[in-house]
Amino acid sequence: MDIIICPTSADAEKLTARMIADAINAKPEFRLGLATGATMENVYAELTALYKAGKVDFSQVRSWNLDEYVGLPPEHDQSYRYFMNTRLFNNINIDIRNTHVPNGLADDEEAEAARYDEEIEDAGGIDLWLVGIGKTGHIAFNDPGTSFNSRTHVAYLSNETYEQNKNYFNPPESMPRRAFTAGVGTIMESRKILQLITGERKADIAAAAIEGPMTAMISSSALQLHPDAVIILDEAAASKLKLRDFYKEIFANDPKWAAYR
Ligand code: PGA
Repeated sequence: MDIIICPTSADAEKLTARMIADAINAKPEFRLGLATGATMENVYAELTALYKAGKVDFSQVRSWNLDEYVGLPPEHDQSYRYFMNTRLFNNINIDIRNTHVPNGLADDEEAEAARYDEEIEDAGGIDLWLVGIGKTGHIAFNDPGTSFNSRTHVAYLSNETYEQNKNYFNPPESMPRRAFTAGVGTIMESRKILQLITGERKADIAAAAIEGPMTAMISSSALQLHPDAVIILDEAAASKLKLRDFYKEIFANDPKWAAYR
C-alpha cells in the first residue's frame, strides 16, 4: 500500500482528482470505478474543473459505481445515480450510457447483482476504483462481517452506517436499510484502488484499516492484500497512524512520487 498524507482535505481531494485524470490521460478507454459520499463531492468538483480546463477527456471512459440503495428510483435526490449525475456526469463529457450504477428498483435482486459483476468482467475489469471508507471501516456498503471474497450483492446496512447516512434523508427514517453493493472481491479485482480518507472523524478507523490486522470486521483492511492500492489522507484522518512520519518521508523522497509533490 502507498500511503500519502496531505496537509489539508482540499489538498487530498485535488491530488485524488489529479491522479484519476492522469490515469485517464494515459489510457483514454478507461474503465473507472466510482464512489459516492460527502468525501467525494470535492473530488468530482475538481475533476469537473480539470475537464473544463481541457486537462482531461471523459469521452471514451466507462464507469461503474460501488453501490445503490434498494428501492430508490434514479431521480430520487438521495439515490446514488442522482448523486453521480448531478455531481459529475452532467458536468463532464462522459457519455451517460457508459455510466453504470446498480438498478435500485430491480425486481430480481440476485440477477441484478450477478449482471453487475458480469458487466464489469465483460468490459475487461476496472482499471482504477475510487473508494472512501465508512465509520464501520466499510468500502462500498460492505459492513462488518462481509467476506473478502464477496461479489456484488444486496446488503442489510449496519446500525452505524444507518446512523451515518440517515440525516441526508427527509424524514431520516425513510432511508432504505438495504443496498446493492459491489463485493469486497469485486473491488479487489480492480487493477488499482485509490482510497480517499479525510477528516478527524475517520482517524480511528483509518488507523485500524491501514495498520491493524486484516479482518472481515473492517472490509477496508482487505486493501492490505491489494498489489496497487494508494491511500490518500489529510492530516486529520492520518493523525492516529503510527508510521505517519515514515509515510511522509517516502512521499517526499521516493522518485516515483516526484510528479505529485
Ligand atoms: P462519507 O461516506 O464520504 O460520506 O464519509 C464514506 C462511506 O461511508 O464509505
